[in-house]
Amino acid sequence: MATSSHSLLLQNPNRALLKTPSRSILPTTHLNTVNLPTKLISIRCAATTQTQDHSPLTQTQSQDRVFNFAAGPATLPENVLLKAESELYNWHGSGMSVMEMSHRGKEFLSIIQKAESDLRTLLKIPSEYAVLFLQGGATTQFAAIPLNLVKPDEPVDYLVTGSWGDKAFKEAQKFSKAKVIWSGKSDKYTRIPSFEGLEQSPDAKYLHICANETIHGVEFKDYPTPKNGLLVADMSSNFCSKPVDVSKFGIIYAGAQKNVGPSGVTIVIVRKDLIGNAQEITPIMLEYKIHADNNSLYNTPPCYGIYMCGLVFEDLLAQGGLEEVEKKNKKKAELLYSAIDGSNGFYRCPVERSVRSLMNVPFTLEKPELEAEFVKEAAKEKMVQLKGHRSVGGMRASIYNAMSLAGVEKLVAFMKDFQAKHA
Ligand SMILES: Cc1ncc(COP(=O)(O)O)c(C=O)c1O
Repeated sequence: MATSSHSLLLQNPNRALLKTPSRSILPTTHLNTVNLPTKLISIRCAATTQTQDHSPLTQTQSQDRVFNFAAGPATLPENVLLKAESELYNWHGSGMSVMEMSHRGKEFLSIIQKAESDLRTLLKIPSEYAVLFLQGGATTQFAAIPLNLVKPDEPVDYLVTGSWGDKAFKEAQKFSKAKVIWSGKSDKYTRIPSFEGLEQSPDAKYLHICANETIHGVEFKDYPTPKNGLLVADMSSNFCSKPVDVSKFGIIYAGAQKNVGPSGVTIVIVRKDLIGNAQEITPIMLEYKIHADNNSLYNTPPCYGIYMCGLVFEDLLAQGGLEEVEKKNKKKAELLYSAIDGSNGFYRCPVERSVRSLMNVPFTLEKPELEAEFVKEAAKEKMVQLKGHRSVGGMRASIYNAMSLAGVEKLVAFMKDFQAKHA
């Protein structure tokens, strides 16, 4: 186990069980370490702690936390939160919080380099790809992608399987000759077409997909091969939820706030030979070359968010990597979908079975008038954020990596109870 210097209270391995809220701990610690005579209280010490240990998710839910089924920002692994808490005030004995560090100092450089290296290990990212930690959300990438990859008069294809793919297409229209080659809109985004029948534009420079549509719960299980161009994927809501063959893609991009960290960090994995051809009008902050040449440190990056992503990557590796993570995700999703399918129509999932998302599970109630009560009753049992997206209604349970099996089991038990009461 690692040792480092922290306050005793912050190092308490049973921190999650402490009655005192953390807000009141920090000032006390500060007083103890700074103002009181050291001969009375010797607080600084090196000690071993549980939260220093990168052990996999414990699957426990401490009493004061809810099961958060939000689509993003979403639940984070408890051990990651506790580790971040233990390091918040004084990171690794540096005397600073990560929030206070220079992004060019050796401490932060070690953090961002480790985060990148762990992500490369997790996704087995080939060396021909650059990893960029950016800002602006996946939404900014909707513009950055055509700006970096094509000229304004060049054709690009969009396969639209939900609202996010549609938004990406609309933004791309401003900077390229973007075309929707298939849209699931008329089926309310409940399916993905067979790739054989897809009519791709012969000269399209890339084919864009949204690998997992967060709102509609539609997920690609394998990927189309673009005829002549590149495959570009928005993986915001299934990033690091399963292994991916990165070499099939020109670009993979993702907002961090679902599976790998807090909002504010956007990760772009881009094949290096695609960098350096941006349109002249491209704002400097959207140019991949600037960020790649400067190792994501051209301007001040979202330092704390990157640090948190790094902790999540460590945790995913400690769990055995993405193969193991996928197994857990499949188990949770199967449990929830079979509860829905086995409810004799009381609950319904509109998405075609073969493309149901492992991450976002939308469902409706046979009696829509019960939906508000479902959400209210679930919240009483500490299961929150189950209301579907405002554009589609119904329910949605987002069960990202950090949602424990216990959380899904509790939801399924609640659903059965609720059905028994109202059927
Ligand atoms: C699949 C997908 N793409 C893009 C976005 C937009 O991300 P951001 O809000 O980070 O710009 C979201 C947000 O939920 C999403 O789920």
